[in-house]
Amino acid sequence: MGNKPLKGIKIIDFTHVQAGPACTQMLAWFGADVIKVERPGSGDVTRRQLRDIPDVDALYFTMLNSNKRSLTLDTKQPEGKAVLEKMIKESDVMVENFGPGALDRMGFTWERIQEINPRMILASVKGFSEGHEYEDLKTYENVAQCAGGAASTTGWWKGEQSGPLVSSAALGDTNTGMHLAIGILTAYIGRQQTGKGQKVAVAMQDAVLNLCRVKMRDQLRLDKMGYLEEYPQYPHESFSDVVPRGGNAGGGGQPGWILKCKGWETDGNAYIYFTVQDLAWTPICDAIGKPEWKTDPAYTTPKARQPHIMDIFGTIEEWLKDKTKFEAVDILRKFDIPCSPVFSMKELLHDKSLRASGSIVEVPHKERGSYWTVGSPIKFSDLKPEITASPLLGEHTDEVLAELGYSKDKIAALHTAKAV
Ligand code: COA
Repeated sequence: MGNKPLKGIKIIDFTHVQAGPACTQMLAWFGADVIKVERPGSGDVTRRQLRDIPDVDALYFTMLNSNKRSLTLDTKQPEGKAVLEKMIKESDVMVENFGPGALDRMGFTWERIQEINPRMILASVKGFSEGHEYEDLKTYENVAQCAGGAASTTGWWKGEQSGPLVSSAALGDTNTGMHLAIGILTAYIGRQQTGKGQKVAVAMQDAVLNLCRVKMRDQLRLDKMGYLEEYPQYPHESFSDVVPRGGNAGGGGQPGWILKCKGWETDGNAYIYFTVQDLAWTPICDAIGKPEWKTDPAYTTPKARQPHIMDIFGTIEEWLKDKTKFEAVDILRKFDIPCSPVFSMKELLHDKSLRASGSIVEVPHKERGSYWTVGSPIKFSDLKPEITASPLLGEHTDEVLAELGYSKDKIAALHTAKAV
């Protein structure tokens, strides 16, 4: 398991749903003591959302809250507020992703938090940044994908399905949480230099936009040139003044597309992604049995290929007809061609390599027996995060209160007052 670099960092995890929990879960994996603060009786709404087993915490919750402890606390009651104040005094970081203004309404403004503990780092996720004209909006994943540029640049540009499209990847939620984790660690290192905490905020719109910067690059190029040569619209269709949706186009300097393999008629994932890397043109011709393309001037440069790139993909698809996606990749990898099968979630869940590397892990759980989850995508030479179960609601309430110095009687009184 090795060293746990974040050991000793105390985090009040005042987060819910996905964006905040993804952030604090990662910090917990790396050793931080993360205490999830939840409303008594109900807790994080994802405990109950999309349940697969009656009365047991849903996978939505278990997969975003491993390695944490759970404390129930009603922070709208004076007794609950007093407990939170004590926690703020003794912790390093508080992470929250409530709707705009909720923390202030609870009485914990940034000014108040600094009064209680000037070393505190307050980390927040909101839909839009402070001062933004939409700063008052509550936000969920797909709202952020629309606000941050992902939806307008994803999908098809013509045909019945040509409207904006959201991705199934959590660009708004988990991605924002990952940005926030970087912000928290930066503020923590900053505090080692200054002795002072600070407020760290990431807006979901900004985090999505950060991932869409190549599309902003394309807008700037379009403004200047009026066309984008790597898009499927070039050169036979016209461009408007906004970046179009490009289907499965490569998006960078190398054309690419999703191509059908053997069995696509019945298997919705019998496809590969194929990249026509300029450097690999000669090997591509060898791999797909088109040696004549190596010297034909209509094929030898990216510029010559682009006007008929979709025909080239069509020819490669012909070659793929009698090969499964795995057979195709096994051939193409020998020629150093960047490609991958389109993996289904089922294939990923059972993938031996992912299980061996800890990217997919099985975690024992008190009530559901065990569950499979996605482990750390970050690998270290001296840390192999051990993923432990998500906590039951309030599982650690008494333990945390005792650590804060509350006596048994006081803890019982807090229970009676329904503050915890
Ligand atoms: N004790 C007492 N009250 C609590 C509490 C506790 N332990 N935890 C939360 N609450 C209260 C809040 O104070 C708030 O009260 P108020 O609105 O009366 O002041 C209330 O619960 C609701 O909080 P809110 O965050 O607004 O929940 P919601 O279910 O209405 O909205 C979101 C959910 C996700 C839309 C909203 O939290 C949001 O926009 N968050 C920021 C963006 C974000 O992270 N979105 C992605 C989620 S994956």
